[in-house]
Amino acid sequence: MGTLQLQNISLSYGERDLLINISSTIDTNTKAALAGINGSGKSTLLKIITGSIEPDTGTIHSTKGMLVSYLPQSGIVLKARSLYEELESAFDSFVNLIKRKNHIESLLSESQEHSKQTDNLLEELNSLEEHLLYSNYYQREAKILQIAKGLGFNPEDTHRQCKEFSGGWQMRIALGKILLEQPDLLLLDEPTNYLDVEARVWLNHYLNQYHGGYLLVSHDRYFLDETTNEVLELFHGDLKRYPGTYSAYEKKKELELEQLKKAYEQQKIEIDHIESFIERFRYKASKAKQVQSRIKQLEKIVPIQLPFETKSLRFTFPAPPHSGNDIFRLENLNKSYGDHQVIVDLNLHVQKGDRIAISGKNGMGKTTLLNILAERDSQFTGSKNRGAGISMGYFAQDTDASLNDNLTIFEEVEATSPSARVHQLRSLLGSFLFHGDDINKSVSILSGGEKSRVSLLKILLQPVNVLILDEPTNHLDLASKDMLLRALEDYRGTLLFVSHDIDFIKHLATKILYLSEEGAELFEGDYEYFSWKLNQKQLLEEEEKKQEITPEVHPKRQLDRQERNRLKNRLRTLQKDETRILEEIDVKEGILSDLHHQLSLPENYSNGLKAAKLNKEIENAEISIEGLSLQWDEMTTEIEEIQLDIEL
Ligand SMILES: Nc1ncnc2c1ncn2[C@@H]1O[C@H](COP(=O)(O)OP(=O)(O)OP(=O)(O)O)[C@@H](O)[C@H]1O
Ligand SMILES: [Mg+2]
Repeated sequence: MGTLQLQNISLSYGERDLLINISSTIDTNTKAALAGINGSGKSTLLKIITGSIEPDTGTIHSTKGMLVSYLPQSGIVLKARSLYEELESAFDSFVNLIKRKNHIESLLSESQEHSKQTDNLLEELNSLEEHLLYSNYYQREAKILQIAKGLGFNPEDTHRQCKEFSGGWQMRIALGKILLEQPDLLLLDEPTNYLDVEARVWLNHYLNQYHGGYLLVSHDRYFLDETTNEVLELFHGDLKRYPGTYSAYEKKKELELEQLKKAYEQQKIEIDHIESFIERFRYKASKAKQVQSRIKQLEKIVPIQLPFETKSLRFTFPAPPHSGNDIFRLENLNKSYGDHQVIVDLNLHVQKGDRIAISGKNGMGKTTLLNILAERDSQFTGSKNRGAGISMGYFAQDTDASLNDNLTIFEEVEATSPSARVHQLRSLLGSFLFHGDDINKSVSILSGGEKSRVSLLKILLQPVNVLILDEPTNHLDLASKDMLLRALEDYRGTLLFVSHDIDFIKHLATKILYLSEEGAELFEGDYEYFSWKLNQKQLLEEEEKKQEITPEVHPKRQLDRQERNRLKNRLRTLQKDETRILEEIDVKEGILSDLHHQLSLPENYSNGLKAAKLNKEIENAEISIEGLSLQWDEMTTEIEEIQLDIEL
């Protein structure tokens, strides 16, 4: 079992003691949440553990050979290679093992006689083989496809270049690679920020059967409850352990605070009491002894420190300037990336005062649509009209890209509103929890939550009548999230937003635009209505599917243009994939027949070790071919169905 030991870790930034004498032990059985409000030092602590930040004092020891993998909160830069190649690079460390294995094998085949040295080599070979067998190395192809699928990638995505994916999807690629590395300890910094519900559920199950330990940062209570059994909390520089679920920790924490406040009040009464006694009898000779003893008593009391109240941001959006009733009118809007069509014939009329939540699985084009509406993307066809007197505020999903790393917080907000007075900006920054010298911090060193706060603040500087928000709650701690929700509830302008936070949609949305493989559908009602309608629709579809089993009774349904386009796109992709898979099967079958041939040679089948090795390789090749054939089977069935549908 691997163990990682933190001893007396401290780190200060200027006046601020971020981490104070932290000691803790984390091992391969640890399943813990790392908690704390925005800016409490969670990401910093993870970076210290992985060695990318040097603490002022303290040491970290880990068991020799213990593999620790870390996924940062943001800012991943992937190499210029395909998704598959990137994921496969998780197995890079095996290249040396394979080289060593081949080398030993050739040494063994050359050596004529039995010796101590050949014994040692055989032993090493055995342990290498064992390691390779248990590490998924031979099944890496199937493993890569399984993890890519779990994280929401389509089979055809695996050959796309990493740089073609959006920031959030690149983070998923990085997460996939780390999972494939199968480290002894996983350190994941807010992975839930870029995962939709399906992918979260998948990661949840994956972690539940994970063999190693992990430390997770997340603001998703449900996810943490399901995956962890203790909480390590950073609070005012201290790291404290709370056994049990995250919800239990929250309750315990509340209770602790209450008790601390009570003890503080109690102590205050006691101190006042003693002080007044001393004051009263200070000059009375007859009481000198008692006074002395009270003074000593007072000196012995260790004053209870109340934590600063947990601060939360506080703000309201400025009143929206006047606009006409029509905000946006989209007609037959189409958008593709290469031959991948994301938005198909979208028609949408946004009216003044609408609060539209854009919902749907990842990859359905939510961010793409917001970018088009916010005029950050003009590469589309169809028409998009914007009403009169519209002014827009836009919160990008990728806050890193929307802030300038070379500026300080103050310069960043000043650049957005050059006419604002310094004291006005200072007071606004204060309500966003940037006090005193904080405002001179460089944007580049801010925590995830702090960056989100700066981006929100920039929107507040100009009164707008349309707010376009792409996942604004990512990175925010629970208290900050609540404040944003309250401010948005009071906002009187038009709101278009994407959020995975069900609470947000429930409280804010008056309409829901649902994007799916079948195109876009506007539900003119709130979240309750939307879920009810969606449920009804699914029931209806299931019913239709059942009836479709007897096709001659039910004539073929007429496909609309949108559906036909989608099917044609899908068909093209499937046909490309089919060719690729058939080629791969060909190659693998060549390898398999070569292996069979080798096994039929007397010098191989009569050598126990070689025969066992060849048999293992044959087994792996067969597994791999079987996997590919299964995929091919599924593909051909889908191809036939689509061809039938569009009657090619
Ligand atoms: N080089 C630096 N100089 C000064 N302050 C820094 C530096 N690096 C980080 N900080 C500050 O240290 C604090 C802790 O940052 P960290 O990223 O660890 O927070 P966090 O707990 O991960 O927050 P979040 O929940 O927002 O991700 C923040 O206030 C950040 O601005
Ligand atoms: Mg962080």
